[in-house]
Parts: sequence; structure tokens; C-alpha cells
Amino acid sequence: MKLIIDTNNNTLTHITDEDRRTIKLHSKESFALISHQWLKVAWSQKYPYTFTWLGRPIIQIPEDIVRIQEVIYKIKPDVIIETGVAHGGSLILYASLCNSMRNGRVIGVDVEIRPYNLHEIKNHELSSYITLLEGASTDNKIIEKIKSLIKPDETVIVILDSNHSKQNVLDELNLYSKLVTKNSYIIAADGFMKHLYDVPRGKSEWLTDNPVEAILEFVSKNPDFIIKNPERLFNESELNMNITYWTCAFLKRIK
Ligand SMILES: C[S@@+](CC[C@H](N)C(=O)[O-])C[C@H]1O[C@@H](n2cnc3c(N)ncnc32)[C@H](O)[C@@H]1O
Repeated sequence: MKLIIDTNNNTLTHITDEDRRTIKLHSKESFALISHQWLKVAWSQKYPYTFTWLGRPIIQIPEDIVRIQEVIYKIKPDVIIETGVAHGGSLILYASLCNSMRNGRVIGVDVEIRPYNLHEIKNHELSSYITLLEGASTDNKIIEKIKSLIKPDETVIVILDSNHSKQNVLDELNLYSKLVTKNSYIIAADGFMKHLYDVPRGKSEWLTDNPVEAILEFVSKNPDFIIKNPERLFNESELNMNITYWTCAFLKRIK
């Protein structure tokens, strides 16, 4: 595949084995094609590893951070559960939203919470909003502990950002979907890795072993959930596609 950007003529030429097309450079379609490649280069350059939220590293890109903020503000959950804590930046993000909304608390699960990260999260200004659980996200003891922390009638949203293998995400979807309330979401992050099988820092097996495979299998067997990108709360553009690593990530509970 080739993309040829011609800024003299303001065109983008897209060449594949089957086709060659030249389109306007400043078009919606051109934006999608360039953004797709931008995400691949950004991954290779560790762009997602360059941000913090209120002092803690958050391994996300700005669009995904803003989009999850939009969803959390719309749903106003009582409980936000995330698998995959790492440095804690995403937990601090959710805690800061709970603090601003005067509602909600955060449960974070990680198989290994490193001592320095644990210290920094526990000593953060927003630590009172966060419960940390150490263990594999699919461990029965962890699931039982999480259940014990949720009261009946509480609104729950779940973000899955731990091990992104198809099997682990599928296991997480099967376990954590039961905790999600109607009209809320379970979000399986980083499905874009299926497009990162052929770039530096990517792995060939990601082409088939990725969260999107798990998501598709899960929704085919669980009619209570649909893949639904949340509607934009503000959009004065013609654009309707997110520039995201969270491909097909948002599963809405409709029943
Ligand atoms: C991508 S990082 C999480 C990034 C974080 N959510 C953020 O936005 O900054 C993935 C984390 O998942 C954890 N992890 C890997 N396998 C896991 C499992 N089976 N259960 C729980 N956590 C796991 C790793 O230890 C790592 O800290």
C-alpha cells in the first residue's frame, strides 16, 4: 500500500494491489487514511507513552482520554472499574472526573502494582476515590471482591485495559459485562493493535490475537450488548470517526 501526499496539487493518492485512487487532500476520506497511518507511526514512536494526568503517567492518546471523559460525564457512573493500572494515570483521570462530578469512585485491578506506582497512587490528592486490587483480572477472588464493593442499583462502567490477548479480553468481557448496568458501557481498549502487526514495536500475531476478535465473538453471543461508539456531544464537523486506539471498543448494554 502507498499513500502519496501531494501538497502542490492538494491530492492524496492511495495505491493498493487492486486499486489506485486520487482524492482531495483536504477531505474527510483523506483525513481517515492519513490518521490511520499516523496511529501506526505514533505507536512505533511510543507517542502514547508521553502523557500524564495530574502527575501520573497515562498510557493513552489525547483523543481517547477526551472521549472516555465524554462518556463518563454522560453516564455519571457510581463505580468505574478498570483492569490494567500501570502507573495509575487513567485511575487518576477517572478519580478527577468523580471529584468534579461530585459522584463516583474508582476500582483498579492489576496483576502487579509496582511499589513506586502504589506509593504514588496512594499518596495522590485523589487517592480517596480509588480502591486498588492486586491480582489477575480474571481471578475469581478479584471478581468476588469487586462485587462486594458495588451496592445494588449503582451505575457501573468498566474499562478493560490489561492483557490485550483475545483470550484474556474475552474472559474479561464475560466476567465484567455482568457488572455493567443498562445503558452503560464495557470498554475494551486497544483493538487498534490488529493494525500494528507490521510496524516497529508491533507483533505479527496481533493481526489475529487482539481485543477486536474478542469483542466480535462476545457480541455475537451476548445480545444484551452492542458495539456502539458513543454519540458525539459536540460536533460542528462532518467527521464521525474517532482517531483512536480503542477500535470497536465501546460495548453498550442495551438490555
Ligand atoms: C496498558 S497497561 C494499563 C495502562 C493504564 N490503563 C493507563 O491508561 O495508563 C496494562 C497493565 O495491565 C496489567 N496486566 C497485564 N495482565 C494483567 C492481568 N491478567 N490482570 C490484571 N492486570 C494485568 C499490566 O501489569 C499493566 O500494568
